[in-house]
This record gives sequence, structure tokens and C-alpha cells, in this order.
Amino acid sequence: MSAGQAAALGIGIFAVLSAVAVFTLAWRREQIARRVGKPDKGMTRTSITRPKLTLVGAGGAVAEAEPAIAEEEAPAEPARPAQQELSETEFGATRRMFLNRSVGAAFGAFMGFFAVTSLAFMWPRLRGGFGGRIDAGNVDDIRAALFTPEGRIEPFYVAEAKTYVMPFDESLVAGSDFEGLGVVAGGLVGLFQKCVHLGCRVPWCASSQGFECPCHGSKYNAHGEYEAGPAPRNLDRFVLEIDERNHLIINTGAVRDTARAKDKTVGYPQGVSCI
Ligand code: FES
Repeated sequence: MSAGQAAALGIGIFAVLSAVAVFTLAWRREQIARRVGKPDKGMTRTSITRPKLTLVGAGGAVAEAEPAIAEEEAPAEPARPAQQELSETEFGATRRMFLNRSVGAAFGAFMGFFAVTSLAFMWPRLRGGFGGRIDAGNVDDIRAALFTPEGRIEPFYVAEAKTYVMPFDESLVAGSDFEGLGVVAGGLVGLFQKCVHLGCRVPWCASSQGFECPCHGSKYNAHGEYEAGPAPRNLDRFVLEIDERNHLIINTGAVRDTARAKDKTVGYPQGVSCI
């Protein structure tokens, strides 16, 4: 997930949370209004009809009469909506609820944004950057850069991938510990620079044609195979691919480790060691 996508997602979640908060506040206001009571706008003095009175006189005579209410004679006053005053307790509760829900909404928005950014940070990179697939360049160019005029190996270092790209004769893969791992492509292998003992970066030693760790003396040959020192296994290596443009793609999200082997695929040392 790119930074732009993460930002868009974060803004979307923030908008949804804000909408939920606004809706909740509106709903709560409605609930409070209902509990306190609203005036019935159609309820006016003139709209009230009173039943006529039935009078029974002496001898059973029955007569109907209008109720004698003096106010009925007066002209009806214009209807005025009844005003409902909130008590201090109700007013305090409403304000407190508003503040509580505002704080809750802000906290929720913050947590949502935090979750999205954390997810974006942990999301495996599918393109570019260490942890993803890195374009190391044209295979022919890399091969041409791997040897000095004297025919000695010079690693092609890819800083973004933290990888030494080295030559590897593909005919040696069958029957070796590297068979079926996908770590050799186009006659190349990609070695992770980190020493498998305690993690120091292992430099290349041109004179011995091997990798020699200055921290505790582990040594590996040009194919990253264990030769000496406290390292428990060979240098780790990445899965490689060659794309349709003939570019070497180093998949730094797919690391492969292999055990020490008795039979090495390349000789070491081929000169004086550096440590
Ligand atoms: S870190 Fe390389 S030998 Fe210890």
C-alpha cells in the first residue's frame, strides 16, 4: 500500500467516523427532545370543541345548552408554541453528553487513523523498497559488471536490496542445496549482505574472492557458502526472477536459507584473506 493509498484510506475512515459521530449526536438530541416533550403545534384554544350540556328540568323536560364559559366569548388569542425550559440538571447533562461524545468521536478518529497508518507500515511491499521486489537492472549489464579485466569476480551490489549479486553457473544447481529454491536465475545469485551469525554486514574480500565478516571472523565463498567461523549456515539469499525486459528482479520478501554443506560449488580462498 502506497503512502497515497494509506492517506486516502485514513481520510475515508475519518469521514465515516465523523459522520457516525454527527449522526449519533443528532439522534441523541432527538431522544432528549422526545423525553422532555415537544409542543403540539395544532393544539390551540380555538381547536378545542366542547360537548354541549344536556339539562333535565322538572317533569323530565330535556334541553341542550352551550356550556357557560365566559372566556368563550372573548376572541381567541393567536396560538403560541409552548416553551419547554430545560432544567439546570438536564442542560448540564446535555452539555456533558455532547462533550463526552465529541471526545469519543475524536478519540475514535485518532484510533482509526493510527490503525490505518500502522497497517500501511506493516503491509508487505509489493513493489520497490526492501521487503518487496526490486529491479536490479538489465541482466547483461549486471553480468558485464561482475568481472574485472583480470577475470576476478567483483560483486554487483544493489543497495536498495542489501544484496550482492554474484555469478553462479546454473549447471551447478542440480543436485546442490540450492536446487528448487528459485535463488539462481540467468547465471546469477543474490546474497543477503547480513552475516548469519549476528547480523553484521559482510564485506567482499577481493584478494580471497570471498565474504569475510570483520565482527567474529565468519567466512563464506563467492556463492555465499559457509567456509569458516561461528556462522551457523550459508549466507541467506533471495528468490530471483528475470522479467520480460530482461531485468533482474530481486524478491527481498522471499529469503531462503541453506545449511552448511561439505561439497562447495566454488573454491575458496583464491588468495590472501582480508581478516
Ligand atoms: S556477525 Fe559475522 S561472524 Fe559474527
